[in-house]
Amino acid sequence: MRQSSLVVVANRLPVDDSVAPDGACEWRRSPGGLVGALHPILQQTPATWVGWTGDAGDAPTLPDVDGVRMHAVALSAEDIRDHYEGFANATLWPLYHDSVEHPTYHRRWWEAYQRVNQRFADAAAETAEPGALVWVQDYHLQLVPGMLRALRPDLLIGFFLHVPFPPPELFMQLPRRAELLLGMLGADLVGFQRVQAAHNFAQLAAKVLKVPATDRRIAVEGRVVRVGAFPVSIDMAEMEALSARPDVAARAVQLRADLGDPQHVILSVDRMDYTKGIEHRLQAFSELIAEGHIKVHDTVMVQVAVPSRERVAQYQILRDRVEREVGRINGEFGRVGEPAIHYLNQSFDRSELAALYRVADIMAVTPLRDGMNLVAKEYVAARVDDTGALLLSEFAGAAAEFQQAYLVNPHDLDGLKLTLLHALDASPADITDRMRSMRAHLRVHDIRAWARSYLTALDRSGALAARLTP
Ligand code: G6P
Repeated sequence: MRQSSLVVVANRLPVDDSVAPDGACEWRRSPGGLVGALHPILQQTPATWVGWTGDAGDAPTLPDVDGVRMHAVALSAEDIRDHYEGFANATLWPLYHDSVEHPTYHRRWWEAYQRVNQRFADAAAETAEPGALVWVQDYHLQLVPGMLRALRPDLLIGFFLHVPFPPPELFMQLPRRAELLLGMLGADLVGFQRVQAAHNFAQLAAKVLKVPATDRRIAVEGRVVRVGAFPVSIDMAEMEALSARPDVAARAVQLRADLGDPQHVILSVDRMDYTKGIEHRLQAFSELIAEGHIKVHDTVMVQVAVPSRERVAQYQILRDRVEREVGRINGEFGRVGEPAIHYLNQSFDRSELAALYRVADIMAVTPLRDGMNLVAKEYVAARVDDTGALLLSEFAGAAAEFQQAYLVNPHDLDGLKLTLLHALDASPADITDRMRSMRAHLRVHDIRAWARSYLTALDRSGALAARLTP
């Protein structure tokens, strides 16, 4: 077994489902996902990525991808049902997102969560060289830091939660709340997207575990665990370069023509998830048409809803509801050759996405709750000519950084409608001012800055962070 000095542990491996006949596989880039966030860092550092391929059964032996070693963890059909679809995505995911859907608690799911976390911890322990840095990602693997510390006390262990961390009133519902907190506290540094999440975590540690805790430090089992907010970002330079490519620019012109050269294009790109506020947004748009504020001929909406977690019941119900509503709106307000909403339930490759961002005069990112929302950041990065309005939910982590966006409370339908109209009517100068300031922020706070700040805080000797080129 080859060992690495940097090991990333995440539920998913960043590889395509399809492995080519010559064994080659490619990075998977889902819109706004974790993989996109870590890709540039790993290319610069000798590293192993421990994760799951997305399929049930034995773990395949995978070739290195872009110089990064891929270590697959096997999940059986039962593990997928009870760990991934169950405890991760039907217990923790809804609970951590304000309980916008009801979290379900099953003891069998908890057993699977422990079992699968142990498997990831074992794999990380095997692939990490002595004294290595292991960076554990996200809510699927909250027990891994504690399990890994028990196996390998020599390691430097980081944990980063990409999703929101809920306030005590919600987290206290969890039947196994103490174990989950202790699992995370196995890390040397626990990172969150927002300061509020770090505060929630410290409060919970004090309340549930009765340990001394501030928003920056928690004392547990004779160690001090550091806590902090490290808002994740994107590779701005990569998205800018993609968006500026002549073929992408030409594709954007073509897309606009295909949409009937309307005055305004409103775009949303989400995973099909109940946290994304898709239904609220559709309702706001439909009311604006019904009330005569928007003419279908002038203003089109493009809703990309990437298929996601399709075997989880709440996701199936959501898809049915969204599709019924899109059908209703198009049936009522569309004309032949002029639907009110262009609805696409499919994945897009990066260049098509960049072309769509270029076409969008308004990008509507209105989740009910979101850890960060990297789609909002990608849109800002893609607007190389400083145009374009970002309509952004206050409940997305990105809102803490993009105060110049058109901020909305997505639950407030009238407010959402008014702000959308305001963005549609905004002067070019106002739009440019706002976009310039968001782009300036993103240029400084890109993915490399995120990785550097997290890894510097984790590895105080600075040896690893120094390897990340500016
Ligand atoms: C969110 C999570 C990621 C996850 C992604 C896609 O961004 O924070 O950990 O990978 O959603 O979801 P999926 O269930 O397809 O991995």
